[in-house]
Amino acid sequence: MSYENIEVRTEAGKVGIVTLNRPKALNALNDALMTELGDALKAFDADPAIGCMIVTGSERAFAAGADIGAMAQYSFVDVYKGDYITRNWETIRSVRKPVIAAVSGFALGGGCELAMMCDFIIAADNAKFGQPEIKLGVIPGAGGTQRLPRAVGKSKAMDMALTGRMMDAAEAERAGLVSRVVPFDKLADEALGAALQIADFSQIAVMAAKESVNRAFESGLSDGVMFERRLFHALFATADQKEGMDAFVNKRKPAFTHG
Ligand code: CAA
Repeated sequence: MSYENIEVRTEAGKVGIVTLNRPKALNALNDALMTELGDALKAFDADPAIGCMIVTGSERAFAAGADIGAMAQYSFVDVYKGDYITRNWETIRSVRKPVIAAVSGFALGGGCELAMMCDFIIAADNAKFGQPEIKLGVIPGAGGTQRLPRAVGKSKAMDMALTGRMMDAAEAERAGLVSRVVPFDKLADEALGAALQIADFSQIAVMAAKESVNRAFESGLSDGVMFERRLFHALFATADQKEGMDAFVNKRKPAFTHG
């Protein structure tokens, strides 16, 4: 499939990489780009050879937010009736294999929200995160007020949403928003290394791990722990559990068949 706002490629036949590509607008996220991103991720998710995905941008910008020019003239009636501007953003949440955000430069507004929709964020040391919507007379509209406090706690999330200030990569790592920070020239390799590692594990165990961690944000502790235990039990029905444990016991490398 050919895309106009993203570039799509695979690495080693098992990692799907999507690069946001609207450089003149700092990868501002319009309807067309988000539809293409959703389509590309769904296609990778459905491909049995692909075990992990990466979403990334350019050195200057992961994404500077929803496209302000495209939404500036909308009325309440437009956005409410059409469920604009972020109606097609949730597609990424239906992707069951892991998605890593590799962030360099600006990840602002919808860009920060998109990164947070991914399963974890690896940042370059020049990354800048923020929810500056307050400066535009609005608030985050793609989960920023919900996912940011879950990631960094109430105080910092309030600070970011109310002042619109940016957080640099070091602060984002301290706050737990990102899992790793590396120099920009190492970002692509770091993200690919993590993705290849994940892709070599049992796909079914990887999907279960993702589902179970996500459950922590949707349920109380007892329900979450029981959900985890049932998934853990279910994995004993897979060939990959037999292979993984047999390989450990016999001191050899496992060869998972993803079943
Ligand atoms: N939408 C549309 N175009 C954007 C954009 C955006 N979110 N962000 C940047 N651009 C465009 C600029 O208009 C500019 O285009 P022109 O060259 O045609 O004028 C180009 O990208 C380069 O931007 P700047 O000249 O502004 O570059 P800078 O280095 O001086 O500043 C910046 C960079 C701080 C990121 C600044 O561009 C900026 O503040 N951008 C807006 C950030 C923002 O407010 N994001 C939130 C959007 S609302 C949202 O996302 C809602 C939601 O929750 C879903």
